[in-house]
Amino acid sequence: MQLKHFLQFNDFSREEYEYLFERSRWIKQTFKQYRQYWPLVDRTLAMIFDKSSTRTRLSFEAGMNQLGGTSIYLPTRDTQLGRGEPVEDAARVISRMVDIIMIRTYEHDILQRFAENSRVPVINGLTDEYHPCQIMGDIFTFIEHRGAIAGKTVAWIGDVNNMCNTWLQAAEVFDFKVHVSAPPGYEIVSERIGLSGTNNYEMFSSPHEAVKNADLVTTDVWISMGFEAETEKRKTDFADFCVDTEMMALAKRNALFMHCLPAHRGEEVATEVIDGPQSVVWDEAENRLHTQKALMEYLLLGKIKKA
Ligand code: CP
Ligand code: NVA
Repeated sequence: MQLKHFLQFNDFSREEYEYLFERSRWIKQTFKQYRQYWPLVDRTLAMIFDKSSTRTRLSFEAGMNQLGGTSIYLPTRDTQLGRGEPVEDAARVISRMVDIIMIRTYEHDILQRFAENSRVPVINGLTDEYHPCQIMGDIFTFIEHRGAIAGKTVAWIGDVNNMCNTWLQAAEVFDFKVHVSAPPGYEIVSERIGLSGTNNYEMFSSPHEAVKNADLVTTDVWISMGFEAETEKRKTDFADFCVDTEMMALAKRNALFMHCLPAHRGEEVATEVIDGPQSVVWDEAENRLHTQKALMEYLLLGKIKKA
């Protein structure tokens, strides 16, 4: 089987996602019915974390366990990587001992260099630039609630960060629109985030304009991990970018609200919105588990033939 990594959303085609979503539905149903499905017995996942995590660690660790395999949690500070071992050397060693690796780190370049030196599949568990596992779970969630995302409009309000960049890649893969509204100084640099220039996004200075007629409104923290030094400046810059009920009212009547979590109520989102009827944030979090199980199955076993 050809070695495949999952480093950015556009590493996979729309057909591959359609396959992964079909598998995710089956895996989810099997799990909900307490039926055992152990295709990854004797397989080991290494999870390298340079940053904190609740959902990513849990969903990968529980997911691997539920598929019959095991996982090893490696916070960077407890490994030789934390003491300066070159990432290339670490990749060569770790990938001789395990079957699949997930990494959460800072610059995307670190992940890229790791993957180039790995003998086994590498998954991006979040970098400063991208969060593809989250968007895979989010699109699966959208489809569960509203059907196909192609042709729909997603409003992204707030920081042009790893989540926003990944939504922009996903828009090209699935052919939907993203309305992005961010304060001046937080512009999209499309060449830097691997967009092919299909014009699937539009910038709006007013968040209220951006959400008009949106099928999905989504946002994320103003201060991502690694940007803590900019806290005060960012709180000022983003003050008008809180998704509140007034903003949600401008979107389509049946618009969904998403947030990858963790959230800061009263900053990027109002309590009434994240805890309100349009919010599907808990489904998003749960679906990380099911979609990543399908992802690991695909990277390790390839396409499963239907019985
Ligand atoms: N959404 C997400 O990736 O959450 P964690 O940081 O808790 O993993
Ligand atoms: N943009 C956030 C996402 C956390 C899951 C961060 O990078 O901290």
